[in-house]
Amino acid sequence: MKQKTVFICNECGYQTAKWMGKCPSCDTWGSLEESIVREEKKMAARQGVNSVTPNARMPRKIAEIETTDEVRTKTGIQELDRVLGGGIVKGSLVLVGGDPGIGKSTLLLQICQKVGDTKKILYISGEESERQIKLRAERLDAMSENLYLMSETDVETILESINVAAPDIVIIDSIQTMHHESITSAAGSVPQVREATNAFMHLAKSRDITFFIVGHVTKDGTLAGPRVLEHMVDSVLYFEGDRQMTFRILRAVKNRFGSTNEIGVFEMANDGLREVENPSAMLLEGRSENNSGSSIICAMEGSRGVLAEVQALVTPTGFGNPRRMSSGIDLNRLILLIAVLEKRARVHLSGSDVYLNVAGGLRIDETAADLGICAAIVTGQTDTQIPPDMIFVGEVGLSGELRSVSQLEKRLSEAAKLGFKSAIVPKQSMKGLNVPDGFSVFGVKNLSEAMSLIRKK
Ligand SMILES: Nc1ncnc2c1ncn2[C@@H]1O[C@H](COP(=O)(O)OP(=O)(O)O)[C@@H](O)[C@H]1O
Ligand SMILES: [Mg+2]
Repeated sequence: MKQKTVFICNECGYQTAKWMGKCPSCDTWGSLEESIVREEKKMAARQGVNSVTPNARMPRKIAEIETTDEVRTKTGIQELDRVLGGGIVKGSLVLVGGDPGIGKSTLLLQICQKVGDTKKILYISGEESERQIKLRAERLDAMSENLYLMSETDVETILESINVAAPDIVIIDSIQTMHHESITSAAGSVPQVREATNAFMHLAKSRDITFFIVGHVTKDGTLAGPRVLEHMVDSVLYFEGDRQMTFRILRAVKNRFGSTNEIGVFEMANDGLREVENPSAMLLEGRSENNSGSSIICAMEGSRGVLAEVQALVTPTGFGNPRRMSSGIDLNRLILLIAVLEKRARVHLSGSDVYLNVAGGLRIDETAADLGICAAIVTGQTDTQIPPDMIFVGEVGLSGELRSVSQLEKRLSEAAKLGFKSAIVPKQSMKGLNVPDGFSVFGVKNLSEAMSLIRKK
């Protein structure tokens, strides 16, 4: 086997034969690291250009390829099954990412307990001892006959153990602790993460074993060894949520076997993660009925409408530039909406600090929340109140016009289900709109119309 030295960027995985100070692909300085790779496959590929190698295969016609539906195992944890697209797919590689301490290991142990009756599971941890995992499993009531534990970080050893144990599902906790002998760089570096994932993927596909791989997220919110990993696996699930809050959101950001819009909502309790079937009710919990600067919006998370409370605190600026702070909503979007309010609705905010927060730690990146954000800011400034049973849906354009949003009917029916009685929506969405019984909908053309409507209510 031939070996070759290459330099691999720790940020983006870019590969080059000679060292450079700056990565030409992602422009990071000093991120290229020396690494040794094996050469066999590349040689074969290169020869294949001009000559027919013994393994050359004739491509097949699309009509001749047999298809059977993927074999799926339901975990019985509905919030998880939905995010996976209907259950665990046999032979797939699933990456579970998230901040340390968010609950990745907990979730995976709970999966073991759910599918342990019918599947043989091998849990490999590079972070905890077998004893620690057992204690945790006992605490979570996740003991299972078919669960095997191993505390190991060497990839070659792990591959051999998998071959011996022949499990249906393997859990690698975490990929950043795995170490492959043939690579010189430290565990957790891009070359290591890539080589280890590669080895696991090979096994997943050739032996039809499902792999769950845990990946920790770096401070800036990306997986360490980010793009390389995401490209290689079949599905990427992110576990999000405020660590101080009890609930967690599992989000599919990539899925070869299902939609990427779905989320699963869990609550962290002493005995592990519990499913939350009605996230809206939970997000609105603890809302005080009589506060200014608070509005309710409905965001779509996959096929599901989720109601959330947007809170705005507007205070006079002490000195210097007014501050804008936002949690749960993109700061640039907030600044843009403040500018539109100033210019198009004559709401003066240049002398005020604006702090915005989505209660419950949810992140909203839908423009359908625009109108609700504006309503929270305006009522926050004037100390007026919005009727407690009203919601806001609508995108705000730069000239202050309200634009229609997708799936309005679904949003309204979610609101009606939770006892809301009215909504302010873009006027052009009113045509042919099916309104839930007992619900009133007000259509407005632009921001100023919406604001004067709120003042009248
Ligand atoms: N012994 C324990 N008792 C109660 N809660 C615990 C215990 N150990 C861990 N937890 C809770 O479980 C959470 C998730 O832990 P874990 O699943 O290990 O996260 P991750 O694997 O994502 O780093 C921790 O943040 C903590 O709140
Ligand atoms: Mg863990």
